Parts: sequence; C-alpha cells; structure tokens
Amino acid sequence: MGQGPSFEYDRLSTIRWSGPDGQLFVMREVTCTDVADLKQLARDLSPAARYFRFGRFNIADLGDEQIKAICDGDSGRAAHWIVHAQDGVDLTPVANARYVATRSDPKQTEILMLITDRWQKCGIGRQLLARLSQCARAHDFESLCAQVLPTNQPMQTFLVSQGFDPVVREAGRPIVYVKKLI
Ligand SMILES: CC(C)(COP(=O)(O)OP(=O)(O)OC[C@H]1O[C@@H](n2cnc3c(N)ncnc32)[C@H](O)[C@@H]1OP(=O)(O)O)[C@@H](O)C(=O)NCCC(=O)NCCS
Repeated sequence: MGQGPSFEYDRLSTIRWSGPDGQLFVMREVTCTDVADLKQLARDLSPAARYFRFGRFNIADLGDEQIKAICDGDSGRAAHWIVHAQDGVDLTPVANARYVATRSDPKQTEILMLITDRWQKCGIGRQLLARLSQCARAHDFESLCAQVLPTNQPMQTFLVSQGFDPVVREAGRPIVYVKKLI
C-alpha cells in the first residue's frame, strides 16, 4: 500500500509519509480528543468543498456532540482517520476520512473524505483511500461506495482514478460510485 519510496508504517494505526516538497504527513485513527481538530478542518474549508462534503453551505449545526459521535469506530462497522501536516512539533489537521457500513448491503461500506483546500492534490486522498480500503478488507467488506454530487467533478475524477465505477446516475441525485475490494 502507499505511494512512493518515502511511505512507511511506524505502528499499525499510524502512517507517516512525505508529500510534495518534502512536507511530512501523519495519518492515524481518530480519537475522542480530536474534536477540536475536526472542527478546525471544517472551518478551514472553502464554501465549495464544504458543500461537496456536507451538502450544504452552513455547517453551524455540526456541534461537538455530533462530531464526537463520528470520532468513535464501531467494532469494524465504521472507522475514521485524521491526517496532520507536521512541522517540527506542530501538527495541523489537514484531512479526515471515514467509512460507515451501508444499511442496504452489509458487505459494502460508504466512504466520506475531506481534504482542506490548501492540501488538495498532494496525494493525501490517495493515501487515505488506501488506508480505508485496507481496513475495510480486514473487516470483511467486499466493496466501497461513495455518493457524489453531480457537480463534484474533482471527487468523480479522483474516484475514477482510484478504480471506482459509477453505478447509479439519477437526475438531480448524488451519483453512486462503487469499487470491489476482492
Ligand atoms: C476530492 C478529494 C477527496 C481528492 O483528494 P486529494 O487529496 O486532493 O486527491 P489526490 O491528491 O490524492 O489525487 C489523486 C488523483 O485524484 C484526481 N484528482 C484529485 N483532485 C482533483 C481535481 N481537483 N481535479 C481533477 N482531478 C483530481 C487526480 O487524478 C489525482 O491524480 P494525479 O495527482 O496523479 O493527477 C479532495 O479534493 C476533497 O476533499 N474535496 C472536497 C471535499 C469532497 O468533495 N469530498 C468528497 C465528498 S463525496
């Protein structure tokens, strides 16, 4: 898993790699101490990225309790990672990604990803997706899916570049993309 020679594991749930310009990134599972960092991630989004990720421009209703609720893994049915950019001892939250088992298919899990604008197109999405896929496979999921707004061209291009296919397109509805894991 991973891209490029600088990719490494330092323990099971923490991954470090160097991005463009040698920027160091650290990916690990989210814990309940990450609420402030997840809020900062949401604050750092452009209106377009916010809309693509949350489906609305106003995320004022994303309160602490709601954020805490998405910090917990759920016995393999859900999992959640955060990526920080590291500069010396300073860690800046730059991205997060989760998967949550779909209700309609117990062998399929839905992915949700968010990379703040400043750090898009640096390979972070690719790293997060590799981690999501690895973890989902380990928990016996057979496919990943994503629901993408028809106007979210970057996510669509990203998914196709990572082996997803569009399987449901209905006018005015999110497009459903799926990737088999086995
Ligand atoms: C879509 C998103 C997840 C992509 O993550 P990313 O870290 O920027 O993507 P990566 O740098 O890993 O790019 C991997 C590939 O995806 C494609 N891609 C990524 N961003 C793209 C963009 N803006 N336009 C076109 N293609 C893009 C490219 O094929 C790229 O490969 P390349 O670098 O060899 O050209 C990120 O832009 C994002 O979080 N957007 C806002 C929130 C959002 O829309 N979330 C999804 C909700 S369903």
